[in-house]
Amino acid sequence: MQQALHRPEIGSALRPLELCVVVPVLNERANIAELIDRVSNVLSEIEWEIMFVDDGSCDGTPELISQLAATDRRIRLIRRFNRRGLSSAVIEGMMASTAPVVAVIDGDLQHDETLLPKLYQSITEDRNDVAVGTRYTAEGSIGEWDRKRAWISAFATRLAEAIARTPLSDPMSGFFAVRRETIAELAPRLSGIGYKILLDIMASAPRPLEVAEFPYTFRTRQHGESKLDNIVALQYLEMLAEKRVGHLVPIKFLKFSCVGALGLGVHMIVLLTLISAHAAFGTAQTVAVLTAMTFNFLLNNSFTYRDQRLKGLRMLTGLLSFYAICGLGAIANVGVGEMLFGSHYDWWFAGLAGAAVGSVWNYVMGSLFTWRKSS
Ligand code: GDD
Ligand code: MN
Repeated sequence: MQQALHRPEIGSALRPLELCVVVPVLNERANIAELIDRVSNVLSEIEWEIMFVDDGSCDGTPELISQLAATDRRIRLIRRFNRRGLSSAVIEGMMASTAPVVAVIDGDLQHDETLLPKLYQSITEDRNDVAVGTRYTAEGSIGEWDRKRAWISAFATRLAEAIARTPLSDPMSGFFAVRRETIAELAPRLSGIGYKILLDIMASAPRPLEVAEFPYTFRTRQHGESKLDNIVALQYLEMLAEKRVGHLVPIKFLKFSCVGALGLGVHMIVLLTLISAHAAFGTAQTVAVLTAMTFNFLLNNSFTYRDQRLKGLRMLTGLLSFYAICGLGAIANVGVGEMLFGSHYDWWFAGLAGAAVGSVWNYVMGSLFTWRKSS
C-alpha cells in the first residue's frame, strides 16, 4: 500500500511514461494485433506507449489500430496522407511522443521485440545515446535472406561507413532506441529522405554518439510484403549525397541534372535513329527534342519531385509548362553560348557555360512553376 502511493501500478495514468515504441506501417494489417501483444508482454515492467505512423494504408491497417486503441490508450496512431517515407514517418512518430526514450521497430514482426527492454535499459541505465538491434555481429544473423539482397545490403553498408561518425556493425538497422531529447535536438538537421533513419541520425549528430549494439536474428516476414523497391534504394543514395554535399548544392538540383544528362542520351539516340531512317535533320531534331523533354518531365516527376508528384490532368498542364520553360532555357543556353563565343572564349567553354545557364534556368523555373510547392 505504502509503495502504491509513491509508485502507482503499471498502466496507471499517474505513472510517468517511460518508453514510446514507434512503428512505421504501410499495409501491415495482419501483423498489428500480434505486434501489440508481443510488445505489451515484453514491456510488462516498463511504462510504454506504442505509436503507429501510417502513410495511407489501404488494407484497413489504421482502422484496425483505432479499433484496438479504443480499449487501450497506450496505443496511438498518426495518419499521414499524400506522404510516403519510412524515415520521415519515424521522425514524426518520435516527435509526437513525450516519452524520454523512443524506440523504432518494424510493423511486420521481422525485428526481435524481446530486445526492447535491453535497448531501453541501455539508454536509461548505461547512459548510451543510441542502442541498436544489429543483424551482423557474431550471434545475430540475417535470417533467410536471398543472396542478392544480402549482397546489396553489404554494399550499402560499405557506403554507410563513409558517412556515419561512429562505426556500426549494422548501420542499416531500422531497430533501435534513442533518447527523445537527442532526436529533438537533431530533428531540424535530419534529411528524412528514404528509410535509413538510424544512419541519418548518426551522420547528423554534431558529436559522435555513444552507441551500444545488441545482436538478433532478422526474422522472415510472414504476412504482407516488403515496401522497399528500387526507388527506395535510389533514395538511399540520395540521403548519402545530401549528407555529403547537401550543404553545397540542393540535392534536387543534382537529381535534376542527372535526369538532364539522361535526357541528352535519349535525345541523341532518337536523333541517330531518325537520321539513319533518312528523316530530314530538322524533323529528326524536333522529334528528338520533344521526346527528350517528355522523358525528362516524366522522370523528374517520378524521381526528382517524387514528393510533389503531379497526377492526372495536372500532369498535362505540368508537361506543357515544362515544354515552355525548357524552350526558354534553350534560348538562354544558345544566347549565353553565342555571347561568350563572340567574346573569343573557346567553343567548349562557351558551350558548357550556355548549358549550365540553361539547366539552372530549367531547374529554378521548374521548381517555381511546374512543381510549385504550395499546390
Ligand atoms: N509509414 C510508413 N511509410 N511505413 C513504411 C513505409 C512508408 O513509406 N515504407 C515501409 N514502411 C513500414 C512497413 O510497413 C514496415 O512496418 C517497416 O516500415 C519496414 O518496411 P519493410 O518494407 O518491411 O522493410 P524491410 O523489411 O525490407 O527492411 C526493414 O528492416 C531492415 C532491417 O532492420 C527496414 O526497417 C530497414 O530500414 C531495416 O534496415
Ligand atoms: Mn520488413
